[in-house]
Amino acid sequence: MIGTPHVHHRVADSTNERAKALAAAGAPHGTLVTADEQTAGRGRQGRSWLAEAGAAVLMSVVLRPPPEALPLAAAVAVAEAVPVETAIKWPNDVLVDGRKLAGILVEGRPQEGWVVLGIGLNVSGIPAEVSDIATALGSGGREEVLSALLERLDARLSSPLPEVLDEWRRRDALLGREIRWDGGSGVAAGIDADGSLLVETGEGQVALVAGEVHLSRG
Ligand code: BTN
Repeated sequence: MIGTPHVHHRVADSTNERAKALAAAGAPHGTLVTADEQTAGRGRQGRSWLAEAGAAVLMSVVLRPPPEALPLAAAVAVAEAVPVETAIKWPNDVLVDGRKLAGILVEGRPQEGWVVLGIGLNVSGIPAEVSDIATALGSGGREEVLSALLERLDARLSSPLPEVLDEWRRRDALLGREIRWDGGSGVAAGIDADGSLLVETGEGQVALVAGEVHLSRG
């Protein structure tokens, strides 16, 4: 069961950093690290992750071995754990009305048989600096949200991949929208059986495996 053992920090640099240190020292599958506050929260693409102290679920869990399509399965689990309608922006930003409710960062050493899944989910507030792009649930307590999240993670990390991908597709925030990325632009056309993002470009369809995409407008 994901969530045992559980180490809670009032303040941590980054729960992903703490969980990686535990994993490197042999911590078992399911080891959970949480914090009320992070001083060096990390996001994807080298960005930082800001959250208001005591107002977000900040969690990282050690997974051995790394589950298939983890970033997508984790996004589905987050979406199912919250009592609001969400959309998922490929690969794993969980949005409410176009604003980010939760972010997911997978790091680790797959070659050594483990990864750390980090999730930041805004529950009762967000920092003023990100108020134009982020949102919070606005109801419920962190404990309650964390326990729903662990339950859905347990379920989704062991669901058959086609089921996970179907649930992901139901929430696809980019489908039919014009997008751009470092290497080009086109219209998002869903995900394939591996979770790669399909894009129709002037020169045919391409599949993006990793990275960051942006909406061209809107
Ligand atoms: C992103 O969308 O850029 C990913 C954000 C991931 C943030 C979480 S908060 C808990 C865990 N610890 C970190 O330092 N990052 C992840």
